Amino acid sequence: MEKTTFDPKTIRKDFPILKREVNGKPLVYFDNAATSQTPQQVIDAIVDYYSNYNANIHRGVHALSQEATDRYEQARIKIQKHFNAAASHEIIFTSGTTHGINLVANGFSSIVKAGDELLVSAMEHHSNIVPWQMLCERTGAVLKVIPMNQDGELLLGEYRKLLSDRTKLVFCNHVSNALGTVNPIKTIIDEAHKVGAAVLIDGAQAAPHIKADVQALEVDFYTVSAHKMCGPTGVGMLYGKEEWLNILPPYQGGGEMIAEVTFEKTTYAELPHKFEAGTPNICGGIAFGAALDYMNAIGFDGIAAYEHELLIYATERLLTIEGLRIYGTSENKTSVISFNIEGIHPYDIGSILDKLGIAVRTGHHCAQPIMDFYKIPGTVRASFSFYNTKAEIDALVEGVKRAKAMLI
Ligand code: ALA
Repeated sequence: MEKTTFDPKTIRKDFPILKREVNGKPLVYFDNAATSQTPQQVIDAIVDYYSNYNANIHRGVHALSQEATDRYEQARIKIQKHFNAAASHEIIFTSGTTHGINLVANGFSSIVKAGDELLVSAMEHHSNIVPWQMLCERTGAVLKVIPMNQDGELLLGEYRKLLSDRTKLVFCNHVSNALGTVNPIKTIIDEAHKVGAAVLIDGAQAAPHIKADVQALEVDFYTVSAHKMCGPTGVGMLYGKEEWLNILPPYQGGGEMIAEVTFEKTTYAELPHKFEAGTPNICGGIAFGAALDYMNAIGFDGIAAYEHELLIYATERLLTIEGLRIYGTSENKTSVISFNIEGIHPYDIGSILDKLGIAVRTGHHCAQPIMDFYKIPGTVRASFSFYNTKAEIDALVEGVKRAKAMLI
C-alpha cells in the first residue's frame, strides 16, 4: 500500500485526552472499537450548546428553542449527506446502534409470522442477536445462522443455501467488532433482496473507518453510534428506507411523535418524528454533526489508508511473539487485532498492559458466539484509530512481551 501524507502528530493535538498519563506512563489508547476519543472541536460544540443555546426543540416560539431546533435539524442533514440517504427524514436519531436495532426488531413484530425465518451472521455483537431472538419468541419466527470460517469470513455459499421465500430479514454487521472482518454487505443485501427479505446492517464498527453509501448499498436499515466516530455517547442514527419507516409502527409513545392525541385515538407524526418520542439528546445530535465535520475534514480515504498501515505494522510485529495467535485473519479487515497467547488468560495480559498505560479490551467483546466458535474464553483486543502511531504499537508489542515473560 502506498504511504500517505497523513500526519498523526498534528491530528493528535486535537485530542486533549491523549496528553494524559495512566499509571505514570503516557496513555496509549487502543480501545477505539469500544469508544473513540473526542477531539476539541466536538468538545467545543458541546460546550457551545450548553453555554449559548440550550433549549428544548420543536416546541418553543422563543429564540433559543428555534436556534437549538435549527442546529439539531442541520445535524440530521449532515448525517443524511454523510451516509447519502435520499431524504433527511430517513435519518432517525437514536441513543445508539442498540436502540436502532431494537426499534426495527420491535417494528417487525407485527410483520413477521410464525415459521418465517430470520438470518443472522455468526459474527454478530449481542446487540444484533438478542433483539431478534426476542422477536422470534414473540412471533414464533425461526433464527438461522450464516456460518463463518476460521479466518472469520462468512460462508456466502452457505448463506445462499439458507435464503428462501421464508426468509423475511437478514442482519449482519458491516465490520465485526471482535475480529475486524469487513463483510461483503453489498452481496449479502443483493442476495437477500432476490428472495424479498429486508436487510439491517449494524454499521457501528464500520462507521469510524468506512463511509457507507446507503443508496448505493440499497440497504433497508443501517445503524451507527456517534461515540465510535469521535462523537459523544448516548446518540446515534438509524437509517431506514422511507417505505420501510412508513410501514413500521412507532417504537415508543410520547410527546413529539404524535400528530393528534385524544383519549379515543392518537395519530402519529410524520417521519422522522414518528420514531423520536420524548426530548431527544439534542446536544448529542449536534455534537454528532460536529464529529462528522471533523472526520470528513480529515478525509476517510486518508483515515482508511493510515489505519491499514497501522494494522499491517501491528500484525507483523505482534506475530513475532511466539505463541501469539490472531483471531480474525481475513484479507479484508479494519484496524482491529484480537489475539491470545497460548497458556495465558486475556484478562491477565490486559491488566499488565494497563499498568503500562496501554488501554485494550479483554473478554468476549459482547460476541460470545465468536468465542465459542474458536473455543476460547475471550481475547485481548487492540483497536487502532487514525490518531494512533507506530511508536504506540511498539509500546504495545513490548508490553505484551513483558506480560508474557511475567505470566509464563
Ligand atoms: N461494542 C463495543 C465493543 O466492541 C462496546 O467494544
